[in-house]
Amino acid sequence: MKTLPFIYNQPKEFLASLQPKEWADFILGEINPLFSLTATKARVIGIRNESLDSKTLVLKTNRNWKGFQAGQHVPVTIEIAGRRVTRFYSLSSAPGDKNPTITVKKQNGGLVSHFINERVQVGDILELGAAQGDFVLSKEIPNKILMIAGGSGITPIHSILQDLSKRDYKGQVKLLYFSRFREDIIFYDSFAKLEAENPWLEIKHVLTDVKAEGFDFGFLTNEMLHSFVPDLTDRLVYLCGPAPLQGPAKFMLGDVKIISELFLLPNQVNFSTSSKGPKEVVLLQSHRTILLKGEKSILDELEDNGIYAPSGCKMGICHTCVCKKVSGSVTNLMNQTVSGEGEENIQICVSRAEARLELDL
Ligand code: FES
Repeated sequence: MKTLPFIYNQPKEFLASLQPKEWADFILGEINPLFSLTATKARVIGIRNESLDSKTLVLKTNRNWKGFQAGQHVPVTIEIAGRRVTRFYSLSSAPGDKNPTITVKKQNGGLVSHFINERVQVGDILELGAAQGDFVLSKEIPNKILMIAGGSGITPIHSILQDLSKRDYKGQVKLLYFSRFREDIIFYDSFAKLEAENPWLEIKHVLTDVKAEGFDFGFLTNEMLHSFVPDLTDRLVYLCGPAPLQGPAKFMLGDVKIISELFLLPNQVNFSTSSKGPKEVVLLQSHRTILLKGEKSILDELEDNGIYAPSGCKMGICHTCVCKKVSGSVTNLMNQTVSGEGEENIQICVSRAEARLELDL
């Protein structure tokens, strides 16, 4: 794929590099911001509060939207202070719904999740990519399913349950959903409705931080798991949430078949050790040389210097930030391994410079 010069760093070069289709898109966008030959765009046509700090955006997509499978996520690009930023969010509606929805919970320090919750309004335009992800139903849907979710990990599960409801599913699903306190429960009303309308569904809400009448309290235990699901070994498990839920859950589930999606928060990437001294990074396409401190990921340090490379999740999941390292060594902050000096593709959101680098950026 051709990499364009950064529009904000080199606007003249960017415009000069536009192809006929891209010019057509530019003009169509001036007529109606939803129109495009190439880009998948969506207008926000509704906003719902789902919990104290999460909102659902109801979207009207343009003709380039190819749909999704329940449980998938989608890259959402949004302009914040003149800068295009991309993050992945799970779709929360059923695939057959006329207007897809995404549900976004504010994350600590999450620029985009805060922006969406506080600033996005009905009428705003978002750019979407193709839906992706393997946290989906298999062709043959099992008769017995257990779903375990924590926090915003509930979003793809909400989509799957909506889908099962539309398909007139006849099996049995139990959902164990962990939230910090009552007002933190996402989709509380929607789940109550789903449960009332679908006899195959049983939901247990568990609060982990603040007790409330009528709700279970505590973290996942073997006892909780087996008393809620005595037939655990007969079930396929869908598990979605942060690492502190997933680790113990996987241990307790043992040999039970699990389909899981990890929501890794940026502060779970280990930035605690920094490299020794500043490192020179040469950006070959931009013809710039920057001095990085080696204290953060390359992506973050470039942004600190006003250079915005393509990025998405910033957690090492989406691969939007992958770029070619032509020379030099980096540490992968996910597993603390140090690379060789040679040419390879790296995820700059989870890589730290260890030596002078040449990047194809
Ligand atoms: S931004 Fe998603 S992997 Fe780097």
